Amino acid sequence: MSGEHLDRREFVAVCAAGVGLLLVGCVSLVTHPVPVSGDRVRLALASFPELGKPDGAIKILPDAHEDPIYVLATTSSAFTAVSPICTHRGCTVDVHGPRLVCPCHGSTYDRDGHVLRGPAQRSLTRYRVTREGDELVIDLRA
Ligand code: FES
Repeated sequence: MSGEHLDRREFVAVCAAGVGLLLVGCVSLVTHPVPVSGDRVRLALASFPELGKPDGAIKILPDAHEDPIYVLATTSSAFTAVSPICTHRGCTVDVHGPRLVCPCHGSTYDRDGHVLRGPAQRSLTRYRVTREGDELVIDLRA
């Protein structure tokens, strides 16, 4: 860039970089390490206000587990937990509002992990979620 003026090419490059940053910000979730007790994870909902929002989502990493789990709000009081590992070829899917989208070949899943669009043929691995008072209990025995 020279002076205060951008030529067309520079303007497009700056805009593309900005859009890229926005996209990354929309799909990146902070990983929350969580303890495991008896094949279960307990999450106090008060500690995760994101789950109280429509389309809320968090990413947890249970102790001694290699892969994280997405915990997703499907309504204000219903939740699912799914593996982010795409069943096509193992890329990590991103959360895009009500959908989970694989950046590798475009497979798309709903928040229950069901395939909406291939090439993936199988649902994401799902974990049982129950609510006990103000806590979510996630059973890691998928
Ligand atoms: S690895 Fe996800 S669509 Fe291919």
